[in-house]
Amino acid sequence: MTAGAQDPKTPVVAIDGPVGSGKGTIARRVATSLGWHLLDSGALYRLVALASVKRGVAETEEEDLAALASDLSVEFETDQSGDERIFLDGEDVTSDIRSEECGRVASAVASFSGVRAALLEIQRGFRKKPGLVADGRDMGSTVFPNAFLKVYLTASAEERAKRRHKQLKDKGIDVSLPALSRDIVDRDRRDSERTVAPLRPAADARLLDSSGQSIDEVTQTVLDWVAELEKGN
Ligand code: DC
Repeated sequence: MTAGAQDPKTPVVAIDGPVGSGKGTIARRVATSLGWHLLDSGALYRLVALASVKRGVAETEEEDLAALASDLSVEFETDQSGDERIFLDGEDVTSDIRSEECGRVASAVASFSGVRAALLEIQRGFRKKPGLVADGRDMGSTVFPNAFLKVYLTASAEERAKRRHKQLKDKGIDVSLPALSRDIVDRDRRDSERTVAPLRPAADARLLDSSGQSIDEVTQTVLDWVAELEKGN
């Protein structure tokens, strides 16, 4: 990690929100447009989950999981076609970490404060010049409390269920839409009611409801906010 890696003056755009809000897509677009670095913090929780499965650490063992998280050997690279590749212990796990099972274990390990604390410094290490766009659940509230811009991206549960339904269908997985909607409402409740790092907007976050808006429109709103804040500085 370079000396300037944790420079608190390097600007951060924090994009948080619930599952299906589109934050991953928007964060990537905004980062590309600004020419800034990108942190997909969910990928780190997924990597801890995958490492735990590979090393036989039970998803209930907080101490062992925290040790594993602080010792994580990960690399994020961009391949020749511009796609991001993620490596765990030198092995390309880009698609492995996207499985439903990995997401389920990630959600379990993310509920441990020991794991969250272990990932804190790793996440802050992504703050490099000229700037960082970070997406997750607690980027604005905990990881980068002095972020230059904090966005809390939402969409109606119905719209998020529809997006998830389409994503799964594109992968050849057929799940009923009402079941997905129920799942999303349940997950929202669990995520916002849990005691460790509950999902909620940072006090100074700008709320952005992406229901009925295109990816381009939402991206443009965030870029307009960045420009507005840059002008004010
Ligand atoms: O965004 P995602 O589906 O890749 O996230 C995977 C899991 O990690 C999800 O259950 C929520 C959790 N997570 C978290 O608790 N905090 C973050 N900053 C990012 C993800």
